[in-house]
Amino acid sequence: MTTDPALTSPAITVRPGAETGVSVALEDVHVAAPGPGQVRVGIRATGVCHSDLHVVNGDWPTDQPLVLGHEGAGVVEETGPGVTGVRTGDHVVLSWFAPCRACANCAAGRAWLCTGTTALANTLPDGTTPFTDASGGELWPYLGLGTFGSHVVVPETAVVVVDEELPFTVGALLGCSVTTGVGAVLNTARVPAGASAVVVGCGGVGLSIVMGLRLAGAHPIIAVDLSGEKRATAQELGADVVLDPRETDTGAWLRERFGGVDYAFEAIGNAHVIETLPGMLAPGGAAVLVGMPRMGARSSIDPYELADQGKSILGCNYGSSVARVDVPRLARLHLAGRLPLERLIDRVRPLAEGPQALDELAAGTGLRSILTP
Ligand SMILES: NC(=O)c1ccc[n+]([C@@H]2O[C@H](COP(=O)([O-])OP(=O)(O)OC[C@H]3O[C@@H](n4cnc5c(N)ncnc54)[C@H](O)[C@@H]3O)[C@@H](O)[C@H]2O)c1
Ligand SMILES: [Zn+2]
Ligand SMILES: [Zn+2]
Repeated sequence: MTTDPALTSPAITVRPGAETGVSVALEDVHVAAPGPGQVRVGIRATGVCHSDLHVVNGDWPTDQPLVLGHEGAGVVEETGPGVTGVRTGDHVVLSWFAPCRACANCAAGRAWLCTGTTALANTLPDGTTPFTDASGGELWPYLGLGTFGSHVVVPETAVVVVDEELPFTVGALLGCSVTTGVGAVLNTARVPAGASAVVVGCGGVGLSIVMGLRLAGAHPIIAVDLSGEKRATAQELGADVVLDPRETDTGAWLRERFGGVDYAFEAIGNAHVIETLPGMLAPGGAAVLVGMPRMGARSSIDPYELADQGKSILGCNYGSSVARVDVPRLARLHLAGRLPLERLIDRVRPLAEGPQALDELAAGTGLRSILTP
């Protein structure tokens, strides 16, 4: 049913700057009624992820004005014509990689490699946007969502229905960081019990990797971060050892103690740190690239070392997850007390504080910020 006319939502937007960079602002945007195959969701919680920051700090330049935000949860308010999978009132997690469900990768069950999605082009599947500004100009949904506001209109394929018991704050994290981090362990690397692993970078994604390693039974788990607060949280969540990279050369330490580890996860997006991963591995080990560097960055590796020692490098998009399958699984594990996802959340704050939350993320202070419209 499509009944409601367009409504107005406060939203955090980024606009390309005149010279360099972008401007970030809170403004009122109009949100169109859902079209065929689309749903309107009232956002109850949205997480501030480094992939939002990459747009703000120019790592991933945008030439379009965007409504930021891609890690969200809320309630379905209205469904467009032809929507059959969700109903008004359903609690949902939003998935930023809405699959087309038609390409060869979708057909093969690898939705995280979908080649038909328009999410990365920051549009709805039909190439349009539901958002317009006060003067009627188009604002585009970041990663096809644009969750930094009170309402979104998204394709039905971008929502996953979850148990009403699941807190919206935790649901928001299931939209990106947790599904990516836990999925990197369980799906991308398929870490077996007893394997050793290091996680370099312990923000929302890296701490989710630590939790995933704990769930998988990895041992030992070594966590590395510049921030003492992040290292302490990593230890509470299951890291056996934490290292400050300013005091310890991680690769040398791991080789000396263990002869290298079986898995090395990078969750920063730092091309220089990525170069150091093979040196952390035991023969046969795998480096898993989860962090996303700035576009165009290059890392140099020693191919002889990789070939000679049978080491591999795995790329990880969205934790190699199928949101429809993995999000409800992770939600159940959380509700059963097996994944303490609430520990990732530092502050729940009003939407208007989004710019400060982005500044704090850039400064590396605090854990995950959740915004509530
Ligand atoms: N692969 C995917 O599908 C996917 C999904 C979500 C996020 N990401 C990417 O993952 C990365 C991490 O995201 P996040 O939201 O957790 O970011 P974050 O900013 O919360 O975490 C990054 C962490 O790295 C630490 N750090 C920075 N430099 C370091 C260094 N030299 N050594 C050790 N630690 C260092 C910081 O202190 C911080 O704790 C980003 O690049 C983001 O874009 C990828
Ligand atoms: Zn994200
Ligand atoms: Zn597809």
